[in-house]
Amino acid sequence: MICAHVAAVKNSSIATASSRADKRYSDRMIPQPEDKFMRRCFELALLGQNQTGKNPKVGAVLVYDNTIIGEGYHKKFGGPHAEIEALASVRPAERHLIPLSTLYVSLEPCLHFGKTPPCTERIIAEGIKKVVVGCSDPNPLVSGKGIQYLRQNGADVFENHLQNEARYLIRPFCANLNGLPYIVLKWAASKDGYIGKQREQIWLTNNYSKMLVHKWRTESDGILVGKNTLLTDIPRLTVRDVPGINPVRIVADRQLRTISFLNEHYPGQHWLILNQVRDGNFGPLQLIRYHNDENLEAGLRLLFDHGIHTLLVEGGNELLNSMINAGLWHEARVFSTAHILTEGIKAPQLEGKLHQQRQIGIDKLHVILNPSLHYD
Ligand SMILES: NC(=O)c1ccc[n+]([C@@H]2O[C@H](COP(=O)([O-])OP(=O)(O)OC[C@H]3O[C@@H](n4cnc5c(N)ncnc54)[C@H](OP(=O)(O)O)[C@@H]3O)[C@@H](O)[C@H]2O)c1
Repeated sequence: MICAHVAAVKNSSIATASSRADKRYSDRMIPQPEDKFMRRCFELALLGQNQTGKNPKVGAVLVYDNTIIGEGYHKKFGGPHAEIEALASVRPAERHLIPLSTLYVSLEPCLHFGKTPPCTERIIAEGIKKVVVGCSDPNPLVSGKGIQYLRQNGADVFENHLQNEARYLIRPFCANLNGLPYIVLKWAASKDGYIGKQREQIWLTNNYSKMLVHKWRTESDGILVGKNTLLTDIPRLTVRDVPGINPVRIVADRQLRTISFLNEHYPGQHWLILNQVRDGNFGPLQLIRYHNDENLEAGLRLLFDHGIHTLLVEGGNELLNSMINAGLWHEARVFSTAHILTEGIKAPQLEGKLHQQRQIGIDKLHVILNPSLHYD
């Protein structure tokens, strides 16, 4: 289910026979690559946030004599890849430096014809002899073959440079390769470990945390809530505190009991209802039926097929726990707040790898990664 991204190759620069034979470059094999150039690739890649669809976010820079002469990133799904953008950005007066430059790219260059021609061929055609790669591509169509092609065609390749950070960048892509959305669980807990009270809406986080959640919504294709959360909180689940596009709202409602409630409280508004009763449309409501009683995996795969490549799950406890128990999550973002509720609905318990801890006003945000994923 989860991307098994294997770091199989040693972290070393390997000169092929053909590159050694090239006298011009034999004394210019890649020295220890500079972190700052790969980190620039990561910064660039992030500019593609929300634009690359189920493609990975990738950044690339061309470095000549310790200076960046070209840089680019994958700007949108179906558009040119980062390497091609970096080449295109080189000024005409500096194009002759391209074969003498080192290409840094956060993800292994592609070898296959997808929506664009293979980047590996273009790199070789440009005469580039040195390539530094952040991580290999988990896509079986590429997966080491791009690096192999570059080496076979005379380039020195230094691979797995800052590979954990490079892999972290493509974690939604890894999830998508497995036919699942990238699943982010999110909840807020009181100081005494509750997420809410039965049939009563309680606001736990501060306004800064709320803004952050709105930002996360802009980065998600869909937001999923359990049926009880919908009925109790009647949440808007829209983006209001930051600019951005509203994700698709989805409710997990096995017995299809929320149709009239949604029509009454969200008149004319589009929702997906993940259910086990039927498919079809009911005005603006789209019913998506899945067939597995035990867990939501089949439903989540259908959501992926409906274009939900990143999913924010905003509670409540029952839904979150069932997803946690089924291992159906990639990342959790948990706010610990100062409120004391004394009683109510217990917050989910989660075992994971603490990736980040941040103070957001008086709230504390914990970002936890699924331990079966290997980013760091
Ligand atoms: N603090 C926070 O961050 C936060 C966030 C959200 C909600 N809340 C609070 O949480 C409370 C609601 O939580 P809750 O635990 O009672 O309910 P919930 O998780 O919101 O909804 C549970 C219901 O969702 C349906 N469901 C569909 N598929 C499911 C699946 N695979 N696993 C589990 N449930 C599934 C089930 O109803 P069917 O069997 O009928 O389908 C189930 O009874 C509210 O009080 C709300 O205010 C707090």
